[in-house]
Amino acid sequence: MDAFVVHGGRALSGTVRVSGAKNSALKLVAAALLAEGRTIVRNVPDIVDIRVMGDVLAHLGVGWQRRGDAVTLDVPADLGTETPAHLVKQLRASIVVLGPLLARCGRARVAMPGGCNLGSRNIDMHLSGLASLGARITYGPDYVEAVTPQLEGADLELPYASVGATENLLMAAVTARGTTRISNAAREPEIADLAGLLNAMGAGISGAGTSEVVVRGVEALQPAVHEVVGDRIEAGTFAVAAAVTGGDVKIEGVSPAHLRIPLGKLRAAGAEVDEGEGCLVVRGPARPRAVDVVTLPYPGFPTDLQPQFLVLLSQAAGTSMVTENVFDGRFSIVEHLQRLGVDLRIEGHHAIVRGARQLEGTTVQATDLRAGAALVLAGLVASGETVVTAPEHVDRGYADFAGRLAALGADVSRRAYAPAAGVA
Ligand code: EPU
Repeated sequence: MDAFVVHGGRALSGTVRVSGAKNSALKLVAAALLAEGRTIVRNVPDIVDIRVMGDVLAHLGVGWQRRGDAVTLDVPADLGTETPAHLVKQLRASIVVLGPLLARCGRARVAMPGGCNLGSRNIDMHLSGLASLGARITYGPDYVEAVTPQLEGADLELPYASVGATENLLMAAVTARGTTRISNAAREPEIADLAGLLNAMGAGISGAGTSEVVVRGVEALQPAVHEVVGDRIEAGTFAVAAAVTGGDVKIEGVSPAHLRIPLGKLRAAGAEVDEGEGCLVVRGPARPRAVDVVTLPYPGFPTDLQPQFLVLLSQAAGTSMVTENVFDGRFSIVEHLQRLGVDLRIEGHHAIVRGARQLEGTTVQATDLRAGAALVLAGLVASGETVVTAPEHVDRGYADFAGRLAALGADVSRRAYAPAAGVA
């Protein structure tokens, strides 16, 4: 059994380069299914979620090869149309193969997805959108199947700006007959990135990155080469690490424009943030100020940075309120933060954090990807030793998290860990 072992008290300094965005790369490699031949995706993060997606695609018959940060996908004429349950259960994002497989093969059967345990994560909007495009959908407790002789363009209005539904519907619509309009589409930079690859493959998408996306269906797509957008969530995680430790860190490989609201919150909390071309520099205050945070779909404050901000605000002078609007299971970190000494209570979907508490290291458990990263950040400001178990959650989305924090001067390592009797 492995764990992150952290000794707190060091201010971070230096330069870190973020990877390509996990939540973009996962969809870009699925988009490759839409064209027979060789698609190359560069700046792909070397993380477990991508490896699992590679296994899902390999199971469908795709040749998958990584060289450095580039992944080459050789997509055959004859694709498999069924994804294996054991892989899909590890990765919720594998549901995004549904749209491209349906478009390419007229049929797809996908085992029900797994991934982070973030409360009720439904796929009803994916399915009703595909049905409006002409797919016949059947499902059971552990699979969903979609079949169509030919997808037809349609006007789709999403009841909520779902990232995954927007992506699945975009990929289904690119070769549908006629025009598809997606209203109330998600506006995340990862959506624009996906549309960038699809258009390079010959699709006719306009408006991606806004809430009105129009897809003019084309006959077929061709393979293409594409570079993944920088990971704004990884960048935001390092930005909080710099801010909470009173450090001075340059973060490269990300567009600051993709972090406008979280960077505004960091400034409001007293951090100095300088924005450059494809980089930013964050200098932490001696003591952060309290700020309120409300998670919303992009361009709102990202839910994927909410747990990290709980840690920052635990050190702030004053009381902050953090409101979670995206995932109902995203406060699973709370009891672990409380064990470290964070003064925090939950009221419905609000967390009320009373700051300026000295945290004390103990053993806590990563309950999901972002919670795990946030607990490591808490360890950076706790006295003594903090052990974060279940580090495999963090491996899903951060390449060598401990090593990169250590390169910035943190005392953190990932090592074999044997729990004392009675310790979680
Ligand atoms: N929802 C529905 N029905 C649907 C689709 C979504 O009710 O058909 C609900 C979900 O239950 C959830 C909310 O809508 O409460 C948001 O879901 P959304 O579809 O927008 O998110 P997602 O596609 O499942 C992606 C990221 C998440 C990120 C969210 C929000 C990937 C692989 N995952 O999830 O990333 O938090 O968008 O930005 O792209 C992470 O990286 O740690 C992570 C969880």
